[in-house]
Amino acid sequence: MDELKKALKIAFASEFSFYLKAHFFHWNVEGSLFKQLHDLFGVIYEEVYDSIDDFAENIRKTGSYTPGSFQRFSMLTQVDDEVNIPGPRDMIEELLTDSDKMAGICKMVFDLAEQAGEHGLADFLAGRQDAHRKHSWMLRATLKDL
Ligand SMILES: [Fe+2]
Repeated sequence: MDELKKALKIAFASEFSFYLKAHFFHWNVEGSLFKQLHDLFGVIYEEVYDSIDDFAENIRKTGSYTPGSFQRFSMLTQVDDEVNIPGPRDMIEELLTDSDKMAGICKMVFDLAEQAGEHGLADFLAGRQDAHRKHSWMLRATLKDL
């Protein structure tokens, strides 16, 4: 259970980092594909943001406190911070790498939740894995002719 709680906090911090990066790209993307990419990053950050409260409350359900500061998030996250403004193609590639990573993290924590018999939590994580697979599909499809 301790391993599950720790992995869940890492997944949550990573999810928050992913959300922030998608919103950051939504704000700062430029170029001839502005409208399309601004909207795509918008769809992604909104979906992820909508999961954040449930994610944190699932941590509380395990009896742990949830991290909620930039310092703690930066200690826990496995999604690299981005401080520069990448070009549009680099934004898509970076978010795709991160989305694939998030799907893998969700799968790993899902397995721990299943082993612990935490089926409700596992169900939530299965949903997050599937959401990231959808984000990855949309990003990969957008990259195809860029
Ligand atoms: Fe906006």
